[in-house]
Amino acid sequence: MAQLWGGRFTKETDQLVYNFNASISFDQKFFDQDIRGSIAHATMLGKAGIITEEESKQITDGLRSILDDVKSGKLEIGMQYEDIHSFVEATLIDRIGDTGKKLHTGRSRNDQVALDMKLYTRDEIVNIKELLLELMKTLHQIMKDNLDTYMPGFTHLQKAQPVTFAHHTGAYMEMFKRDYSRLTDIYNRMNYCPLGAGALAGTTYPLDRELTASLLDFEGPTLNSMDSVSDRDYIIELLSALSTICIHLSRFSEEIIIWNSNEYQFVELDDSYSTGSSIMPQKKNPDIAELVRGKTGRVYGALISILTTMKGIPLAYNKDMQEDKELTFDAIDTVKGCIALFNGMIKTMKLNKERMQISAMNGFTNATDAADYLVKNGVPFRDAHGIIGRLVLYAIDNNKAIDDLSLQELQDICPVFKEDIYDAISLKTCVEKRNTIGAPGVEAMKQVLEINEKYLKDLEA
Ligand code: ARG
Repeated sequence: MAQLWGGRFTKETDQLVYNFNASISFDQKFFDQDIRGSIAHATMLGKAGIITEEESKQITDGLRSILDDVKSGKLEIGMQYEDIHSFVEATLIDRIGDTGKKLHTGRSRNDQVALDMKLYTRDEIVNIKELLLELMKTLHQIMKDNLDTYMPGFTHLQKAQPVTFAHHTGAYMEMFKRDYSRLTDIYNRMNYCPLGAGALAGTTYPLDRELTASLLDFEGPTLNSMDSVSDRDYIIELLSALSTICIHLSRFSEEIIIWNSNEYQFVELDDSYSTGSSIMPQKKNPDIAELVRGKTGRVYGALISILTTMKGIPLAYNKDMQEDKELTFDAIDTVKGCIALFNGMIKTMKLNKERMQISAMNGFTNATDAADYLVKNGVPFRDAHGIIGRLVLYAIDNNKAIDDLSLQELQDICPVFKEDIYDAISLKTCVEKRNTIGAPGVEAMKQVLEINEKYLKDLEA
């Protein structure tokens, strides 16, 4: 047992209690951030004259040597320590002697852990945004390549109206754009430094909190010391944003699984992104899409867990909050893996454009356009709707598409039909006439592509 406290105790901690309480097995994950925070704190202590500049330098040099040695594998993080903070402080004292004992001046593990967790999640938000950007670049390319790849659009998983693969992909593009901006919002809102809040009530040392904040690239210091050590809102927001990313990935995965099935054959997943069956030799399974869909559950689980943990905790710090870590780390790693794998999967996926087009031509996806044709020729919409309904019934009975019916058959149902009906309800017309912004027509899509092109460029700048 290696812990930072014990002076007021007359007995050793029970081993089970020690193990239950310890967090080193998981908080070692923010070892880097803990050192960074301590370097900023020691620098500030020196500049503010709370310790001497010489002591400050000794401490920061010592901390850097610990960082380097752990990174190079020379030094191992010892599991006998209670938490990562204890490991770093004990190792520092071991290396530089008594000066190391001054590092924790004007600091508590409560503001220290609040800082570490913020630094860690802030770093990971940047990483996740990068992965999302890569994914959006892939989607953008798919859109550019498929402006005239016709496919059925669905509602209720029933064929509804024809769209293009670019348009369908564009729907996800919009979702991921919102996901990206949600992460930016969270970053900006959380970007205030809690260090200096002490245990809960600040400290009597003349800490320069502005300096610590700026050394760590925060917008400024947090404004209430009790809130600083108790706030986990940003984790809740982050897990909510990650859950939303998972919803989007999961819906897209589900569609790919359907499209990749033998019945649809709209797409074919690459061999490198598929798996086989141990018994059925013919199988090529979309495991990656299924795993991305499935992993959504654990990310939601993390969100529900932190919401439940934080409910009803009195101010300020309570040990319950230690529970924020494992699930947040797991959710972050899970989502990073999902985005990267999903990106690779759709990048290598082949489209069966012919199957998509044939499918779009069947299933009466042009029925709305047939009704609109009648409307343009003077029939009130509600009547037109009824006429086309009867027409569809007739076509189903005769196993034909609307376009396959002769003009005579059409006119027997409604004399308003003329020869130009065939052009009016062709697949191409149905898509290309839809050119209001946001619709699948090529002209409308090109406008969106231009906006997205600029959006992606700005993000990369
Ligand atoms: N491991 C603790 C956590 O994650 C660090 C803070 C400990 N503070 C304390 N007063 N026991 O929350």
